[in-house]
Amino acid sequence: MAQINDNFIKIPATYLFSEIAKRVAQHKEAYPEAKIIRMGIGDVSLPLPDASVDAMIKAAEEQRHAETFRGYGPEQGYEFLRNAIIENDYKARGLNIAADEIFVSDGAKSDTGNIGDIFSVNNRVAVTDPVYPVYVDTNAMAGRAGEPNEQNVWSNLVYLPCNAENNFVPELPKEKVDLIYLCYPNNPTGTTLTKDELRIWVDYAKENNSIILFDAAYEAFITEENVPHSIYEIEGADEVALEFRSFSKTAGFTGTRCAYTVVPKKVTAFSENGDKIQLNRLWNRRHSTKFNGTSYVVQRAAEAIYSPEGKKQVKALIDFYTENARIIREGLEKAGYTVFGGKNSPYIWAKSPDGMGSWEYFDYLLKEKNIVTTPGAGFGRSGEGFVRFSAFGSREATIEAMERLRK
Ligand code: MLT
Repeated sequence: MAQINDNFIKIPATYLFSEIAKRVAQHKEAYPEAKIIRMGIGDVSLPLPDASVDAMIKAAEEQRHAETFRGYGPEQGYEFLRNAIIENDYKARGLNIAADEIFVSDGAKSDTGNIGDIFSVNNRVAVTDPVYPVYVDTNAMAGRAGEPNEQNVWSNLVYLPCNAENNFVPELPKEKVDLIYLCYPNNPTGTTLTKDELRIWVDYAKENNSIILFDAAYEAFITEENVPHSIYEIEGADEVALEFRSFSKTAGFTGTRCAYTVVPKKVTAFSENGDKIQLNRLWNRRHSTKFNGTSYVVQRAAEAIYSPEGKKQVKALIDFYTENARIIREGLEKAGYTVFGGKNSPYIWAKSPDGMGSWEYFDYLLKEKNIVTTPGAGFGRSGEGFVRFSAFGSREATIEAMERLRK
């Protein structure tokens, strides 16, 4: 008798963004004429940088000819991309990361979801609250989260509330934790940690033999000096932290798919019998067993964003969304909302008016204003009473949304 992984029936039946897509589709079906503005999932609206498209065309042409055709590539990513990453994302910031510490993949969602494979089910896991749901759901699938209550709070997870009272800076947990997921600039609140605030976590991890899983998918939006782009800017982080990066939001790759994970060779964790084991070795084994590499054409597209032209084009994309974020933040403030984030981030975290619940306010905005947001409660208990606006839409739609809200 085949048995299922019972953890799958403990998690919510649909993934947050699938549930939202379902509600939007129902609304569209009921009101086909509705001019819906999508400010929900963080999906980009501008096309890929020309440099990436040109690189893909060239790479596709290479694939047409026997002399230049490439079949399976290295599972960890081609040297040309890994070297470009090291030079531009790390060496340029004075950080020393080696090519064999970079693992190219198809997305930070996959990597942050899959990383649990190399950790024991017995680890105590801490997540911020609110939190990107992938961290919670994938730990629940693995059986590491324990049991959910009716509010979907998991018995074995340690939640680190982030709210206006603590300025969205998570406090160290009272109990010892082994794995800590941190996402900064933060999804969903759009807030950041300064170097000093992040250092507290690195020190905690060193003292407690914990590992930090640092999701930096939104680092390209950082404008302030004191906000680290990489956790490795903090001394000693290369002994305790893995970092997840993505080309999705940086360069418009949400549909093209390319990301990478950094697993420094100095980062170790313990086997059951107490031996210290390099996580790089385990992730390499996992990656080469379950993944056959990101396509050659896409890796060439990713490499191209580091060319002089590519850098200019990426900057233009980020500037465009950053300006959208400003329009949303100021538009919401003018309309009387209390808002957070949106300064080093494409996300604006807004308090629902009149004490409305997140889903209630999400439904109101969808039905009355034809605006799609993401309900804060979908990211956890502390997200209740908030909705998240994404700045990845067109300029016209962003301005129009703010006008609809003002009315
Ligand atoms: C979001 O809207 O939170 C992100 O787009 C989700 C993701 O990157 O998977």
